[in-house]
Amino acid sequence: MDFSSARLAILNVLKGVRAKDLPRLLHWVKTTNDFDEFTSNNDDVVLRSIAEDLRHSLPTEAILSSEHLALQKLHEQTKPTVHIDAFLYDDDCIDSLCEEGKMSRSYCVTCGSHQTAPLEFISHSFSLMELKFLYQHVLPDLTGKIVVDVGSRLGAVLFGAFFYSSASQICGVEMNSDFCRLQEAVIGKYQLDERIKVLNADICTQSSLLQNADVIIMNNVFEYFLERSEQARTWKFISQNVRKKGSLLVTVPSLEKSFLDLQMDIQLNHWVETVPLDYDVFLEEDADREALEQIYLYKVL
Ligand SMILES: C[S@@+](CC[C@H](N)C(=O)[O-])C[C@H]1O[C@@H](n2cnc3c(N)ncnc32)[C@H](O)[C@@H]1O
Repeated sequence: MDFSSARLAILNVLKGVRAKDLPRLLHWVKTTNDFDEFTSNNDDVVLRSIAEDLRHSLPTEAILSSEHLALQKLHEQTKPTVHIDAFLYDDDCIDSLCEEGKMSRSYCVTCGSHQTAPLEFISHSFSLMELKFLYQHVLPDLTGKIVVDVGSRLGAVLFGAFFYSSASQICGVEMNSDFCRLQEAVIGKYQLDERIKVLNADICTQSSLLQNADVIIMNNVFEYFLERSEQARTWKFISQNVRKKGSLLVTVPSLEKSFLDLQMDIQLNHWVETVPLDYDVFLEEDADREALEQIYLYKVL
């Protein structure tokens, strides 16, 4: 049934309802959760359509020639590694790429033999599954709240916030202008500008945004994109500006790991408390527990 026929059918049902039952039925239409399965499915469909548009605008690895440091770090990897963007490519897409010979899940350890070992996979975006876990199970109701994604790249976290949460202001900060243009194109095409804004900037220029945010999301944000000394300087800036009591920080990997790797002396227990997450609440078929366990939540003290 197309839209006009469906609309007509609904209006005809309403016309056929007994006058005394109509207020009750209209109340039910306005307040019921019975439509959730239709609306959430629609959100998934739109997000998949956004991912498809982005796939067509990017090379398979979703790394741009303007990302000089990321490219350099990619070549320095000691273990054979594939960069695959989990928002753009779910497992089915990866299978199709492998079938087409455009990708492999394993590499030959002894050239010419049949001995193979699994390749390392690195994703620079959250997958749809991780976004659902984050917005539907980790974070509280975000009505009236400001969400900031530090390093918004393709916009996956922003689009996830738009469709899976009620956050009022969703702001992405991305230092790469090519990625900002891609995010803007999606925001324009899907009319998301009422709640999403993207800033082409280094996060270290955005003190008031960080000071006002209710939720700050940082997914593997600096390791592959900044030199170590820059990473340390940026974390220091974040820890000085994310100070609103009760605001939430979502990080991958944990702050403890990021700070240990950089040998930083920020006193975490004076700044934030860890909020334990229940990874078992997410029972979707495609749940990848290992990926979910990389997600950490902190509350600012
Ligand atoms: C791993 S991606 C995160 C993608 C996205 N947030 C998600 O989870 O789907 C990290 C991004 O952070 C950006 N970035 C790194 N340092 C930054 C900084 N100091 N200011 C703004 N963006 C930064 C990089 O250009 C890269 O696109």
